[in-house]
Amino acid sequence: MDKTVKEGLRDVVVANSSICIIDGQMGKLRYRGVDIDELARHSTYEETAYLLWFGDLPDREQLEEIEDRLVAHRELGESIRNVIKALPNTLHPMEVLRTIVSALPGCDVQAGDTGSSATIDKAIRLTAKLPTIVAYSHRCLEGREFVSPNPALSHAANFLYMLRGQVPTLLEAETMNLAMILMAEHDLNASTFAGRVTASTLSDMYSAITTAVGTLKGPLHGGASQWTMEMMLAIGTLENVEPYIKGELAAGRRIPGFGHRVYRKVADPRSVCFREKLKELCTAAGDMHWYNMAVRIAEVVYETSGLYPNVDYFGGPVLYSLGIPLNLFTPVFAISRIAGWIAHMIEQYDDNQLLRPLSNYVGIREKEYVALEARNGESMLVSA
Ligand SMILES: CC(C)(COP(=O)(O)OP(=O)(O)OC[C@H]1O[C@@H](n2cnc3c(N)ncnc32)[C@H](O)[C@@H]1OP(=O)(O)O)[C@@H](O)C(=O)NCCC(=O)NCCS
Repeated sequence: MDKTVKEGLRDVVVANSSICIIDGQMGKLRYRGVDIDELARHSTYEETAYLLWFGDLPDREQLEEIEDRLVAHRELGESIRNVIKALPNTLHPMEVLRTIVSALPGCDVQAGDTGSSATIDKAIRLTAKLPTIVAYSHRCLEGREFVSPNPALSHAANFLYMLRGQVPTLLEAETMNLAMILMAEHDLNASTFAGRVTASTLSDMYSAITTAVGTLKGPLHGGASQWTMEMMLAIGTLENVEPYIKGELAAGRRIPGFGHRVYRKVADPRSVCFREKLKELCTAAGDMHWYNMAVRIAEVVYETSGLYPNVDYFGGPVLYSLGIPLNLFTPVFAISRIAGWIAHMIEQYDDNQLLRPLSNYVGIREKEYVALEARNGESMLVSA
């Protein structure tokens, strides 16, 4: 048996999939064959979710059906609202989201059913409720009143409405929709893979999504979006860009929003779409500060390290310009990525194989058991 370790699972292929094609050499990304640029320009999040789940773009009737079903499931039951209210206010919004997703099956009689019809029902419930959980818990924490979902608004526009209590402008709603499409899917990224591992044990979809949310939270994955904007705010001015970035790289620290496992020598196509949108937003606002900052940082990082921006980079100032608080950037990633996670759960349940790799054991092979009285080691516990 070949025990060669593929560190970080680099270049390991673990499944056949027909959801997302990434060309890391050419910087191309397609959902079910449809170019991300086309979706970003013409699609809605609801339509993209349908495409990801069912493999093809919906006709008008199918689109209306999925839109209606998503609207019908936006509300949270009282028991879930009470759990949110009871949580410590020291939790990060991603910790709140992870906790609440794991409580949702309490309100779903089909929770443990992994059959295809129940899976779609759960897909609708989860996708519809996640934005409400994020908006509701944020407003609770701020001591503000809950804003009920508005059935007249699209999925993306309704999220901004529930968060801010005001119907967004057309440009804001379009921007949120674009952001959600761009973040909806990306093949076997760490959170999707982690979720598929959970689904592969035939555990339920809520457990798999809880796993995925916990994995997305890390700063090397979705957590980078908050970290990116924090860095831009810390740099503050164009003059500070060069000394800050060069200082960080010289100290061996990572620059958030740069580098990618798949796009090595080319820009992440999602960052290109976000960059265009940021320019449009700054131009409309008559203030190019964040666009100029973001472009200058990207130039200095590239000149110094050859790294390209990833999805979290230009996405950060875009979300910031929508007035989304920094600690909600990763939850916004989660409420977008839910569509992709679910597409992968459907694929996993349809043709399941338990995902269970091996390690190459490098520890001591055989050791005598020594009785407790005869042991005399130093404490390995670090004192608090
Ligand atoms: C995304 C990421 C985890 C990919 O990691 P990976 O495929 O495992 O690549 P590695 O961590 O092996 O990086 C390869 C080299 O580039 C360097 N590198 C990668 N990303 C870097 C970054 N953002 N800043 C500085 N150096 C970076 C590494 O230090 C490493 O250098 P070395 O070979 O001299 O040790 C990595 O690029 C990163 O940490 N980026 C910052 C966090 C981020 O933006 N995450 C969101 C991803 S969408």
